[in-house]
Amino acid sequence: MSTHEWINEVRKDLEKITGQVAMEIWPTPDGKSYFNYRLEHVRQVERDARWLMQLEGGDEEIIIAAVWLHDRYQPQLAKPDQHAVLAANWVRANLGKTDFPQEKIAAVANAVEKHSSPAQTLPVEEHEARLLWDADKLTKLGPLSFVNMIAVMPAFPEHMMSYGEVVRMAKDELARRKQLVDLFYFPASRDRAAQRIAAQEGFVRQMRKDIAGV
Ligand SMILES: [Fe+2]
Ligand SMILES: [Fe+2]
Repeated sequence: MSTHEWINEVRKDLEKITGQVAMEIWPTPDGKSYFNYRLEHVRQVERDARWLMQLEGGDEEIIIAAVWLHDRYQPQLAKPDQHAVLAANWVRANLGKTDFPQEKIAAVANAVEKHSSPAQTLPVEEHEARLLWDADKLTKLGPLSFVNMIAVMPAFPEHMMSYGEVVRMAKDELARRKQLVDLFYFPASRDRAAQRIAAQEGFVRQMRKDIAGV
């Protein structure tokens, strides 16, 4: 796979798209950005997808292309309607201009299009789409989700922060994320999700103790 150019092209493309929006949301005084949420998300989806692929198999080219293309119409925090469909249409129209294997483009478009489909709706034959779905949701669980919660906050300067507010937000985040655990397609994802949630629970428990002064 490393002999192909397409992976560099799609990575650079996403770095550019997300980098431009990141400069507006998280600017540094010298015109750069100090955080790029979407790029961090996609990098983590790749890590989780590679981990899951080692256990469950799947076509690496289809999965990695889908990882890097799935959120290209959602460059930062705002979730435009249809971002999955727009990205899938982009794949159908443009991925063929790279050296990506033509016969796999339809499967990439399918995985991209369905990455935000309702839980448990993908058939077993759509293995790569299932794998992207799981990896995309797994990245939202665990200690990194708290780190992310804090890292994005300068995008909301009107939101007053305090340790109490951090704990309140962390509890909300945890309650929301916990609902995902049973929805994964692969048992390995469910195990990893449960592990990440347990780490989050311990983190919240300790923070609550600390700010209660006990
Ligand atoms: Fe998405
Ligand atoms: Fe995503």
